[in-house]
Formats: sequence, structure tokens, C-alpha cells
Amino acid sequence: MSLPLEERVSASGAAARDGDMPVLSDPERQFQRNYNRHTFAFPHGLTDHPLFELSSLVELARRPFHHEAYWSNGKVDANDPWEINRDARLSLVDTIANIGDNNSLVILKHVEQDPVYGPVLQEILARVVAFSGEQMRQEVLVGEVLILIASPNRLTSYHMDAECNFLVQVAGSKTFFVYDHTDPTLVSDEEREQYQIGNHNSIVYQESRQCEATAYELHAGYGVHVPVFAPHWARNHDNVSVALSVNYELRPMARRKTNIPGEQLAAQIGGRPDSARHFSLARPLKARRRERPLCRPRAHSAQADISGLDASVSRFSVGE
Ligand SMILES: [Fe+2]
Repeated sequence: MSLPLEERVSASGAAARDGDMPVLSDPERQFQRNYNRHTFAFPHGLTDHPLFELSSLVELARRPFHHEAYWSNGKVDANDPWEINRDARLSLVDTIANIGDNNSLVILKHVEQDPVYGPVLQEILARVVAFSGEQMRQEVLVGEVLILIASPNRLTSYHMDAECNFLVQVAGSKTFFVYDHTDPTLVSDEEREQYQIGNHNSIVYQESRQCEATAYELHAGYGVHVPVFAPHWARNHDNVSVALSVNYELRPMARRKTNIPGEQLAAQIGGRPDSARHFSLARPLKARRRERPLCRPRAHSAQADISGLDASVSRFSVGE
């Protein structure tokens, strides 16, 4: 007979288990060196933790929820908006329970506030800050953990985030593509500003730039750092994927947000300043195609960063 979830978690330890890897480690001292500057891969100790089995995630979704959730059922492409396939959905619980067969993506938000998941997720939030050092300590305003659950072969569309992100792969594997956040021809100032007033589809996937991505074959037991505004997208392998999105809102981003004058926001979205942050009012940017006849892969200094890791995550295939 299996123990109730709380007892299994407590029997296994809320965070690292005896003799196992700690919840997060930094053997190459990469966090401080690369924090919010370069993408890199790192090991973690949450693989096979009972909290991230589907049965536990269904229980989480069933609890009276203070968390928000996003989910969509059905096929998506790399350049589809987040709002696609959100009508006539399966229920959240059905989507998670049958995630192996329904081509879906689920995002459970603010799970660090859940009484059962809180201890382990808050430990990982704290460790990232401790490893990353003084600069991050000064910049962090708030941390949040999302749980991402995805069907076999499911795509997560091309997008960027205003949060500093550490994607922690807990079950299954995927190919994960991260682009240079400092390249203004990938993300212009106008697109960042559009994003910050609520247009989460402000950047457009460009197939001709695909070969410039850093491509991770990301397996359970490893994670990847995604700096603020670094575009990324993912293609699940032929397995159910469970990952944590460990996010931090940073002071410089918040300043940037509040620095945009209200009149400018209003002009950009065609509304009043007080409605400027309303998501549905944001005007999508026109799709841009920056044709490049040749796509030259850039040299990836990140290769050296993961040399000490298992081969399962060290494949940086650049382009397709
Ligand atoms: Fe993201």
C-alpha cells in the first residue's frame, strides 16, 4: 500500500534526500559567472521526486487552488501565439491525467505557495540566489516557480520572458532552443516595450535564424538558464515532460517597466494610460521577416561551461 503524498514527501525529505544529490548544485561555479548574461546547463537532484509524478500533479490541480493555471490542448507550431487552442478545452485535471495522449501544455503558476510543494520549491529558489551571488541578491524582487507539464512531442512556441529563468527538467526530455538576448536584430527595443505593456507575442519566430540558437538536448536531472528577454522555444521528445520554471522578477526590469511614460503606453496600444497594461488591448506587432540567405552558427562559449556534465545534456547541436 502506498503512503499518502505528504508522508511520502516527508519520508523522502522535502528537499534533498539522504545520499542523493542536493536539490541543486553548482559544481562548475557557473551561476555567478553567467547569471543573466549567458545560457548554461546545470545538474539538479529532483529527478524521480514523488511530488512530480503525474498522480501528485493531479492532486495538486484538484486542490482548491490559489494558483493560476494555463493550459492548451491540441497542436501548436513554434510561431503560434499563447492564446491558441484555448476554447472548448478539456478540464485542467483531465488534461494532466491524460497528458500522455492529448497533445497539451499545462502551466501551474505560483506553486511555491502551495503547502505541500512550497518547502522544496522555496529551497530551489533560495539556492539559485545563493549560487548566483551578490549581484542577483541585489536585483531580485520576487521569485516564483511554475510547473510545466507537456505531452509527447508537444511544442512550446517561440517567446521571451521578462523574468530571469532557470528551467529545471524533472521528468522526460526535450530539445530546448535559447537565443542571444543581446542581439537587437532578434529582439528590438520596440518588441521589449511591447512585451512589457502586455503583448506576450511581440517577437516572431524566424526559421532563417534557427541555426543561431543554442540547442540543448535536455534530460531529466539537468536544467538550463535563460537570461531575461532571451527568446526560446522547445520541442518535447516522445515522452511526457515535467519541468520547473524557476523565475525571478528583477529590479532593473521593474524599473524599466515603470519608466515607460503613461502617454507613450497609451499611444502604443490606442487606449488610456490607466488601461495600458491590459493584456487584451496590446496590439500585435506586424510579423517581420528578416531574410538572411545564409545563417552562420555563432561560436558558443557555453560549450566549455558544461564539459563536466553527463553527456546526456552536453549536446549543443547548432541548427537543424
Ligand atoms: Fe519561457
